Amino acid sequence: MILVTGATGLNGKAIVREFARQKHEVRALVRDPARASAAGLDELAGVQLVEGDMRRPETLGAALDGIDCVLMISTATEDMTETQGRFIDACKQAGVAHAVKFSGAESNIGYDATKFRFTRMHEEIERYLEGAGMAWTHLRPSQFMQVYLRDAPTIAAEGAFHLALGDTELSPVDVEDIAKVAFRLLRDGGHDGESLDMTGPEALTMSDVAARISQATGRPVRYVDVSPEVRRCNLLASGISAGFADALDEQLAERLRRPKSRVHLATHEMFGVRATPFVEFARRHAAMFGGQA
Ligand SMILES: NC(=O)c1ccc[n+]([C@@H]2O[C@H](COP(=O)([O-])OP(=O)(O)OC[C@H]3O[C@@H](n4cnc5c(N)ncnc54)[C@H](OP(=O)(O)O)[C@@H]3O)[C@@H](O)[C@H]2O)c1
Repeated sequence: MILVTGATGLNGKAIVREFARQKHEVRALVRDPARASAAGLDELAGVQLVEGDMRRPETLGAALDGIDCVLMISTATEDMTETQGRFIDACKQAGVAHAVKFSGAESNIGYDATKFRFTRMHEEIERYLEGAGMAWTHLRPSQFMQVYLRDAPTIAAEGAFHLALGDTELSPVDVEDIAKVAFRLLRDGGHDGESLDMTGPEALTMSDVAARISQATGRPVRYVDVSPEVRRCNLLASGISAGFADALDEQLAERLRRPKSRVHLATHEMFGVRATPFVEFARRHAAMFGGQA
């Protein structure tokens, strides 16, 4: 039996839905049944919802009972290393054979993962898992295309979005592609000791992203380059915490130092998943980018 954690989140939800679409049973760990229900997880055939908290091993007995393989996802917060470390310990204690870590790898060429706290934490957790004595695989996506949905309200209202990336390229990947890869990896097993990086199919500047959203919505969309300070103010005004804004400043600084992005589709190809181009992702969300949703 397979367990997916983080099932109420962006990727966990997409992965659990992919299991349901493929009519393959899966267990999903949730902290809050109301959130699971709001995410529609309780209506999916073949999905066993189990309550538990990754930070509290005493709550994980039912979730880990009879599990051979786990996919470990939790929120990018300051306590991520501790949360996932405790969960790895609980998996080991319960006799789980294989743990897949949902990690993250920036696509910029020469990017130093130690400069951004969340990629640094992912690498620390990867090392911890590698020493835990279970089979392990790291799934390492680059920036998600879905990150641009945060800018949908401004794009809909002003036909513009404001970031501080200059001409820096990124190679965002569609969460739906990650879900298909994760499903096939978990269903078929194997890939013990492998790190599977994933990007999307194109290295894009923010002007390229704007052009693709424009193509998908049929409305003009501009990228407006602002200073890192203005961007930080915008982020804080949108309600994110100062700590998270600090983390995003670290990421931005390193991205600006490493403006060229690679495209790495070997994982898509290995699992027979077509890499979704940005314009297709934008078409799927055209109502949001166009202000009709
Ligand atoms: N943003 C990017 O472009 C990017 C790119 C590559 C990798 N990543 C990495 O991807 C991961 C996040 O993926 P995501 O965006 O899909 O996640 P997300 O939407 O933030 O969801 C996180 C999930 O983890 C659950 N969770 C957190 N703490 C938990 C705990 N103690 N016990 C049980 N469940 C817990 C949350 O449950 P609740 O609903 O109960 O809170 C939620 O379901 C992060 O590690 C991030 O660093 C991000």
